Amino acid sequence: MIVLGIESSCDESACAIVQSGTLVRASVVASQHDLHRAFGGVVPELASREHLEKLLPVLRAALDQAGLTFADLSAIAVGHRPGLIGSLLIGVASAKALAWSLNLPLVGVDHVHAHLYAGLISRPAPPTTPFPALGLVVSGGHTSLYSLRSWRELTRLGATIDDALGEAYDKAATILGLPYPGGPNLDKLASDPSLPTANDRAVEFPVSRLAPDSLDFSFSGLKTAMLYAVRGVPGARGKPAEPLTPARARDLAASFQRAACQAVVLKLERALERTPGVRTLFAGGGVTANSRLRAELTTFAQRRGLELVIPPMDLCVDNAAMIAGLGAELLAHGVRDSLTLAAVPTTSL
Ligand code: KG4
Ligand code: ZN
Repeated sequence: MIVLGIESSCDESACAIVQSGTLVRASVVASQHDLHRAFGGVVPELASREHLEKLLPVLRAALDQAGLTFADLSAIAVGHRPGLIGSLLIGVASAKALAWSLNLPLVGVDHVHAHLYAGLISRPAPPTTPFPALGLVVSGGHTSLYSLRSWRELTRLGATIDDALGEAYDKAATILGLPYPGGPNLDKLASDPSLPTANDRAVEFPVSRLAPDSLDFSFSGLKTAMLYAVRGVPGARGKPAEPLTPARARDLAASFQRAACQAVVLKLERALERTPGVRTLFAGGGVTANSRLRAELTTFAQRRGLELVIPPMDLCVDNAAMIAGLGAELLAHGVRDSLTLAAVPTTSL
């Protein structure tokens, strides 16, 4: 089965062609980072207009890369939730038009679930019995924990109650004066091997726990703590900040990463205690490209005897291969959508 995947939920216009669920024949992503840089974040109205311009050239590039034509496709999968409504509509309308005109099956895929599937793509030896599994999505828009019994049976165990982890990374990076998009730049600053090792205990940033049994996340306190560390604590009991030298900025970045990763692993520990028989940890989303988080997830999985399924770097951030891959999996189990498929801004769980 050769599935065309279409992704347009935020600021990446992407098309991919995936064979047999995991073999990538083509994956093309047109990022809008340059367009939104001046605003320091994604402007929804600009994003949807840009998808209109980019999606068809990206589709043609994907077919060329794969050396295929429309006649070779078996089905169309599209990320139809969650995301920016204007952006989603462009992908969903394109997918429906293609499915109708080519007379192909159509399936709508949850973008957040697809991030969990991304680690299976191009993996040399996929786990034979992966379920029951835990899922962790950490991206610019989402931070959620899932329990999975199959790719059709996902239960959300917890999610962020304020900022997503990637959003906190991006804002912390802005506070440190790093360019947009901040997450990867903060990561580079904290772990640049050409510089002396940063002190990740320079500042004891808060690690949010919430209630003792909570599987939700909170990163707004961490972000505010970074603001105070850089600009000083305001108010009657305030104190001035240390000068933001390059070495201090590196230490702050490393301390931020330590607290952020600790908060994630803490919730994974709690989730594992509550979910018996877990074999696999599926992790995905832009922040799984983070060097420290990857290392900590690897250690956590080894310590708890889990198989870690995490995407290669290029499939951590938004892409259409994960949409086509999960789409193929759903289609293989008889899931189909009609041409009334809607674009939905919220996640399904
Ligand atoms: O999955 P994604 O492309 O978009 C959403 O679905 O939200 O994730 C983008 C997010 C951004 O916040 C970006 O800063 C973050 O992932 N990110 C990183 C790294 N690479 C991307 N955050 C920390 N360290 C990185 N290396
Ligand atoms: Zn995403």
